[in-house]
Amino acid sequence: MKEKVCNKLVEIYEGISYEQMYELMEVPTDEKMGDYAIPCFALAKLWRKNPAAIANEMKEALLPFMQELGIEKVENVGGYCNIFVNRAKYVEAIMSKVEQENLGVKKPGLGKTICMDYSSPNIAKNFHVGHLRTTIIGNSLYKLHEKLGYEVVRINHLGDWGTQFGKLIVAYKNWSSKEEVEEKGIEELMRIYVKFNTEKDAKPELMEEARAWFVKMEQNDEEALAIWNWFKEISMVEYERVYKLLGVSFDSYKGESFYRDKVPALVEELKEKRLLTESQGAKIIDLSAYDMAPCLITKSDGGSIYHSRDIAAILYRKKTYDFEKCLYVTGSEQSLHFKQIFKAIELMNYDWYDNLVHVPYGLVSLEGAKLSTRTGNIVYAEDILKEAMERAMKAIQEKNPSLADKEMVAKQVGVGAVIFHDLYNQRIKNVNFSWDEVLSFEGTTGPYVQYTYARAKSILRKSSGAQENGVSDYEVLTDDVSFGLVKTLLGYEAAITGAIERYEPSVVARYLITLATAFNRFYHECPIIQADDKEKQARLVLVDMVQRVIKDACSLLGIECPEEM
Ligand code: ARG
Repeated sequence: MKEKVCNKLVEIYEGISYEQMYELMEVPTDEKMGDYAIPCFALAKLWRKNPAAIANEMKEALLPFMQELGIEKVENVGGYCNIFVNRAKYVEAIMSKVEQENLGVKKPGLGKTICMDYSSPNIAKNFHVGHLRTTIIGNSLYKLHEKLGYEVVRINHLGDWGTQFGKLIVAYKNWSSKEEVEEKGIEELMRIYVKFNTEKDAKPELMEEARAWFVKMEQNDEEALAIWNWFKEISMVEYERVYKLLGVSFDSYKGESFYRDKVPALVEELKEKRLLTESQGAKIIDLSAYDMAPCLITKSDGGSIYHSRDIAAILYRKKTYDFEKCLYVTGSEQSLHFKQIFKAIELMNYDWYDNLVHVPYGLVSLEGAKLSTRTGNIVYAEDILKEAMERAMKAIQEKNPSLADKEMVAKQVGVGAVIFHDLYNQRIKNVNFSWDEVLSFEGTTGPYVQYTYARAKSILRKSSGAQENGVSDYEVLTDDVSFGLVKTLLGYEAAITGAIERYEPSVVARYLITLATAFNRFYHECPIIQADDKEKQARLVLVDMVQRVIKDACSLLGIECPEEM
């Protein structure tokens, strides 16, 4: 309808383009001011005329086309031209859009590939709450892109190479055993790593040994690589448990170790392009002209490092996937790192350098306490998820002990609550976990949205499929409350595109709260099961659409919706 009105106005007024008109037309916050409004102030400046006069002229110009444009009423108020739509027609149009495939959401991404680098934990280290954030945000951005038709390559860039593995091998040989590592997993690897760091000051030879083991790894020594690989397998078992709880998977687990043999070619290319500088034996890219610390490429012993392995990974991905964009979801403390490596790609003269995007996020705290490994305040992501599930189970036992499939619902609600809480605020903001807030059934929470979905499903079950006959009279849905709900359905596509444009799943999370709130208001004010046939029928169709959109939007965040709660 907005498009139709804009087209008509552009026909009438010559001096303005379709895009300008579209941009100008707004949705008033107060519905008494119409469904759309055109503020005439900018036009008044342009045309040197009084805004009220323009608004009046516009109104007169639209009057003959009301029927054709689906307009019920036009008013000019204080320099605004306010347009009221014919609600029944409008409702019909929106509902038939949502009826379409993909809930009426277009797929502009078809034929385009996006690489996404997220989660990426560090082998032999715990999967901490920061990794939980990259996994949740990354997974949602993946689902959002997929919804718009993009082909997404989900890459887990494991931190599986570096001098720390030399230390770990020495620590393992001195203070652990096969049985202990097998039994306690990452916890044991972390224990001996900490022990190495406390012992090394008194025994400098430990550092020598660690260096030697890492050199062996770099030279493909069989024993060194076997131990390293085993640490990797042990760690992966734990990571996979978290991924399973979250319902997350990846297309590639090529981590840092995959790129170590690609760094020599990178060094050659950088040399050819005259970008390398020697600095105390190390090779660097000088970035002082861009106010950045130098980007380290090789250490003085010639070995690769995080930066150079990452640059090699960019080149590999471009060649392998020919991506339209490559996104990196990590904590904001890595912003400089990504600025440096993206700058390196630019200096290497790759004109697609601006298709590389760092998507940073803020810190996590638990009940107000800052989490950090250094102070020993180690929190495992798995523990957070498990605690959420236990708390959800307790709530079910109290509120609905006869519920079927309690275990599954507790998992969906507990995990869903953690995900929603993470995604509801702008990602750059810090997240604080306060259990009462995360799991509340009221307010802006996952359980509130899931509960709304279960409520809609329960209405549909009670009316055994009656919605399938469709709406016979759209007038039924034109009261303020129903109309408001239908209009909210129309916002789904814009929420998805908005979320993608800003790499911000919170746009969809917030949309879900708006939709759930509009639905609950409708549920309280418009009787459904008790209504007359015509009303009942139309309202059931609306309930059905709302539940479909809620479920779909939740899935874009990585949240499952139980049928009953
Ligand atoms: N392993 C890193 C960490 O845990 C994250 C890696 C992010 N991806 C990348 N290509 N640098 O902090």
